[in-house]
Amino acid sequence: MSNLMKAVQIHGFGDRSVLALNEIAIPTPAENEVLIKVKSASVNPVDWKIREGYLQPMLNHPLPLTLGWDVSGEVVGIGEKVSHLKIGDAVYSRPDIAKNGSYAEFQTVVADEVALKPNSLSWQEAAGVPLAALTAWQSLYEIAKLEAGERVLIHAGSGAVGQFAIQLAKLRGATVYTTTSSKNTALVMSLGADHCIDYQNEDFSDFRDIDVVFDTIGAETQANSWQTLKKGGRLVSITQNPDEATATKHGVSAFFCFVQPNREQLTKLAEFADAGKLNVNIDSEFELHQVAAAHERSETGRAQGKIIINVSA
Ligand SMILES: NC(=O)c1ccc[n+]([C@@H]2O[C@H](COP(=O)([O-])OP(=O)(O)OC[C@H]3O[C@@H](n4cnc5c(N)ncnc54)[C@H](OP(=O)(O)O)[C@@H]3O)[C@@H](O)[C@H]2O)c1
Repeated sequence: MSNLMKAVQIHGFGDRSVLALNEIAIPTPAENEVLIKVKSASVNPVDWKIREGYLQPMLNHPLPLTLGWDVSGEVVGIGEKVSHLKIGDAVYSRPDIAKNGSYAEFQTVVADEVALKPNSLSWQEAAGVPLAALTAWQSLYEIAKLEAGERVLIHAGSGAVGQFAIQLAKLRGATVYTTTSSKNTALVMSLGADHCIDYQNEDFSDFRDIDVVFDTIGAETQANSWQTLKKGGRLVSITQNPDEATATKHGVSAFFCFVQPNREQLTKLAEFADAGKLNVNIDSEFELHQVAAAHERSETGRAQGKIIINVSA
């Protein structure tokens, strides 16, 4: 095997023209890491936000940087302190965003961030799960502590995070209200949403007595969400730090979630998928040399599920 691999990297921050398909050395796993032969990666909006440099004050990435923080693939190398995985395992992960990503033929990932891939999902579907589904899990289950019988308003139910949020909220036994444009109504209802609000023609801010708002949009959407919450309700945003004073004024709690790697949660998500309780919708698929087109699709804000990068067969 050659010790070189293809990887899509940036050497500076900016528009899609900074994306470069490079030949670089295959990394060697540290004692607590595995080397994954990447089958599929997926694109998340954070990829192009990092590419543009928007997150540099927070993440301070060294350059060059390989983008992409969702991976499915096969373990082909293993550090000496790794015990729960072995060569040949089919795995998936949302690896540490501070490190090089998965738009590459091989990637080293800390083993504790890697779980066995759901058997029932294709490589492409599996790569679509980690970042978006962990975000929904951590926002709804860990932070909002969503309970059975509660009413949750999920913004952008047709987005990657929103689709997993609807399904996880239903698995918890909540009643789901979701905003979407009319073209995506059938999609969100098929995922289990109970009430669908066409945000282009209806005013979701008329709703009342919501227990949990999951804000995946920010700005006006967040501003108009406060009044929908009942006293003691919770708002979790993944796009914009909610204002404490506004939360206090409405008698609710507000939180920001920045998704973290989590092997145990990935294992539970795999169990849901294998039990037929978690569906993955793929919006579109691209090859490694087409990452710019994949980013262009994500940047439209109109994707109807996961955007996948097929890396190897
Ligand atoms: N903090 C974190 O850890 C974290 C983690 C993941 C994602 N995020 C952020 O969360 C946001 C969503 O991520 P994503 O991956 O779900 O994005 P996405 O898949 O690209 O979202 C696209 C969807 O958003 C819908 N949409 C756009 N504007 C809308 C609006 N005003 N109201 C309702 N729906 C709307 C679109 O539906 P229509 O075409 O029908 O409008 C489309 O289906 C991004 O900003 C991302 O960066 C943050």
